[in-house]
Amino acid sequence: MTTAIYPGSFDPLTNGHRDIIDRISRVFDKVIVSVLENPRKRPLFTIEERVEMLELITAKYKNVEIDSFHGLLVDYARKKKSDIIVKGLRSTGDFEFEFQMALINHKLAPAVETMFIMTNSEFSYISSSMVKEIAYYGGDISSLVPPEIHEKILAKIKANVEKLQL
Ligand code: PNS
Repeated sequence: MTTAIYPGSFDPLTNGHRDIIDRISRVFDKVIVSVLENPRKRPLFTIEERVEMLELITAKYKNVEIDSFHGLLVDYARKKKSDIIVKGLRSTGDFEFEFQMALINHKLAPAVETMFIMTNSEFSYISSSMVKEIAYYGGDISSLVPPEIHEKILAKIKANVEKLQL
């Protein structure tokens, strides 16, 4: 059985993330979407909120599990008995950083492979930071995030305008 880990900050989840989860759920037997507790970033949404949003939009997938982790991704992959990390690539800008991460992770854990999936061109320009910035300035984010969590995202952004790091 192939189990893949799809890690990320998901702060918040976007239509781009949802598209990738949908596509990789058809490639691997099991997909663990895991939210990073990242001490270097000050996320807008709590871990619990991000996990909850992911659970909501993946409820229909029998082979998708939602989790969170801290520490090194490769240690987490070993703990979950998975040797596949999946990352989405939007542009050559993503590639530079992801290439470095894949090499570091491979050095740390040679048995763990990083695989890349190209984001659907329809979503290639969407990022969580942009969603936050657009909503912050009152723009329409309804086509950028899943409808099930659209209102939740707007409410959170409105309630935390001073905390938002754009
Ligand atoms: O959605 P993001 O913020 O681009 O996700 C980045 C993530 C979570 C995949 C990355 O930051 C990560 O793997 N962090 C865990 C720490 C780690 O293993 N770093 C690699 C060695 S420096």
